[in-house]
Amino acid sequence: MPPEDDRKRARALLDGATAVAVLTGAGISAESGIPTFRDALTGLWEKFRPEELATPEAFLANPKLVWDWYAWRREQVAMALPNAGHVALVAIEEACRDRGVDFTLITQNVDGLHELAGTRRLVELHGNIRRVKCFDHGHAVKSWPATDGVPACPHCGSLLRPDVVWFGESLPGVALTQALAASQSCEVFLCVGTSTVVEPAASLPFMALEEGAKVIEVNPTRTPLTGRATIAIAGSAGEVLPDLLL
Ligand code: OAD
Repeated sequence: MPPEDDRKRARALLDGATAVAVLTGAGISAESGIPTFRDALTGLWEKFRPEELATPEAFLANPKLVWDWYAWRREQVAMALPNAGHVALVAIEEACRDRGVDFTLITQNVDGLHELAGTRRLVELHGNIRRVKCFDHGHAVKSWPATDGVPACPHCGSLLRPDVVWFGESLPGVALTQALAASQSCEVFLCVGTSTVVEPAASLPFMALEEGAKVIEVNPTRTPLTGRATIAIAGSAGEVLPDLLL
C-alpha cells in the first residue's frame, strides 16, 4: 500500500475518533536535536551506561557526577525548540478540543518540549529535567545557587536532584493513573518515537488494543508494537505528523 494511503487512513481514524490518546518517546525530540535516551551518553559521558547514572544508587554514590550529567542535559534541552512533530500534536489537540473530543498526550520524555509547544492535556510519566527537587523529601525548588558541588535543599538541607524518574523508582502516581485511564478509554492511540520496551509505558498501546482501540505507530524503525499496530507508518515524527492533521 502506498505510504500516503496509510497516512490518509490514519488521518481518517483520528478524524472520526471520540477520544484520542498519544504516547511519545525520545524519537519525537530527535529532530529538535536532543539525543534519544540511549544516545545521550556522548563525549564525557560515553563510558557510562544510562543505568549507571540515572539511578538513586548512582546519585548517592557520586552525587556530583549525576548532578553534572543532568546539568549538561538541561543545557542541551534549554537550547532545543519544539519541532514540526510537537507542533502537529498541538494542532491535533486543538482540533479535538474544538470537536469536544477527549485528548491526552502521555510522554516519556523529560525535555519539556511538548509543554513549550503548547500541549495542554499533558501527562509527564518520567518527570521533567527542567524541574529540580530534593532527594529526601521531594521539595520542589525553583532556583538554586551556582555551586561546584551539588546544591542543598533550602527547606531541609538534603541534596537537590532532577525531578525525573530514575531506573528502579516508581512513576508519579497521578501521572500513571491518568495515562492508564486515557489508554484504556481512547478510541485511537497514536504512538510516536518510542522503542516500546520500557515499562509501564510500553504496555499502554497494547492496553489500548485490548480495549478495542485502533493504534497508529509513527517510527522510522520497527518496534515490538509495529506488527500489532492497526497502522504502522515508517517515518520521522517531524515529517509524518503534519500529514495527520485533521
Ligand atoms: P529510545 O531511545 O529507547 O527509542 C527512541 C525511538 O525513537 C526509537 O524507536 C527510534 O527508532 C525512534 N526515533 C528516532 N528518531 C525518530 C524520529 N525522528 N521520529 C520518530 N521516531 C524516531 O527512547 P524511548 O523509547 O523514549 O526512561 O525510551 C523510553 C524510556 O527508556 C525513556 O523515557 C527512559 C529510558 O529508560 C526513563 O528515563 C525512566
